[in-house]
Amino acid sequence: MPADKFHLAWFLQGSSIQAWNAQWTGNISEEWMSAEMFVDAARAIERAGFDYMLLEDSIYIGQNWQDLRDIFLKNGMSVPRQEPSVIASLMLAATSRLGVVPTLSTFAYHPYLTARIVGTLDQISGGRAGWNMVTGSSDYSGQNFGLDHLPEHDTRYEMAAEYIDIVTQLWDSWEPGAIVADRKTGVLIDPEKVHTIDFKGEHYASRGPLNSGPCPQGRPVIAQAGGSAKGRATAARYADTIVAHPKGIAAMKDYRDDVRGQMAAAGRNPDHCKVLFMAYPILASSAAEAQERADHRRVAAAQNLDMRLAQIGWTTNIDFSTFDLDAPVGELSTNGHQSSLAGFLRKAGKNTLREAAIDYSSMGACVDLVGTPDRVAAQMDEAMQEVGGDGFLIALPNVSRRSVAEITDGLVPALQQRGLVRTAYEHQMFRDNLLAF
Ligand SMILES: Cc1cc2nc3c(=O)[nH]c(=O)nc-3n(C[C@H](O)[C@H](O)[C@H](O)COP(=O)(O)O)c2cc1C
Repeated sequence: MPADKFHLAWFLQGSSIQAWNAQWTGNISEEWMSAEMFVDAARAIERAGFDYMLLEDSIYIGQNWQDLRDIFLKNGMSVPRQEPSVIASLMLAATSRLGVVPTLSTFAYHPYLTARIVGTLDQISGGRAGWNMVTGSSDYSGQNFGLDHLPEHDTRYEMAAEYIDIVTQLWDSWEPGAIVADRKTGVLIDPEKVHTIDFKGEHYASRGPLNSGPCPQGRPVIAQAGGSAKGRATAARYADTIVAHPKGIAAMKDYRDDVRGQMAAAGRNPDHCKVLFMAYPILASSAAEAQERADHRRVAAAQNLDMRLAQIGWTTNIDFSTFDLDAPVGELSTNGHQSSLAGFLRKAGKNTLREAAIDYSSMGACVDLVGTPDRVAAQMDEAMQEVGGDGFLIALPNVSRRSVAEITDGLVPALQQRGLVRTAYEHQMFRDNLLAF
């Protein structure tokens, strides 16, 4: 029986600058901000047939360690970061089939602006734009926009639902065929086919219509990430694709089954949202060498404990610098990423903070993938057969021309030989490719 194909997406954590101090990375500390770095990555990833690149964003510099920004700046942790819609525009101009998904958070951009930015990206790319819908999770980011605090976690998702309604209604504010360009009558746009939306919600309002015109996809693709109950419910209602990081096969299956169940209950076809699981394949020409690379990461994690904890603090809004490293982690709560904290606590169990933080190095990935390209391809196949679908979100801590090539020219051909991923794009537009299998 032919293997079931799955989808691949790439998670670009801001830029390539985090690789600056690693071997074989060229002059990334100087080149990271240049158009060429982004364009080279996008072209390689398109050549490998990925569905999309998701451009992660956060709109602040971390300060969750000793109440200082020092550790974040000295180590380039999630900083610097450029405006993702600008980068998306570059990448779309340099490719012809790849979907590109900038992150635009609901507290930082007005919904009209998001509809317009993503709509414009869809137009200039012939229907390949998406939007990673995030609500933001740090008060530091809110403070860059004049807010003392972000709204409370569940309220953020309620606001997001209203926000997405506005964005999608604005995209729908131009009926198909509105641009008639009739030279005989001299009419360019049929006024009957362009509508105000007159949306007045509890949190947002917008009149419309969208002045940037119709999108080739009608509605560009919506991606969503939040794994809390509210986050999943929002995704089940609106998302075309979900990026998720539950830990282990059983949790991955539960996550996907839950979202699919909620979609069916809401009258949506569950196959219309592709759940992609975070993966960090560690590859080498031999199994022993790959294991050595994986072990090296664990050792590095133990040596850089402060950084590790600052990183966990960054996603969970907790300053761990005041905690006892050798005491059990215990119970914690957050107004930040709830599913990330829950995942950390579940994995930590009765362990000390030190032990839990060392384990955190593998926490980003849903399953461990270590070996030769062919062996990792087999591991990915096994995982997908058990989970049921829909693919992987490749997230590398260090993005360089070499590490991108390890995936696009090492792993992907091995996956293709097993019939697990596409060898050529089926369609021109992003959503059509997502729905191709
Ligand atoms: C794979 C993945 C990618 C994410 N990317 C971003 C991002 O780029 N920007 C952001 O602010 N949040 C990002 N998030 C965070 C989510 O949007 C969400 O805030 C977080 O998962 C917490 O959601 P929860 O409280 O529903 O669990 C990401 C989460 C995951 C799992």
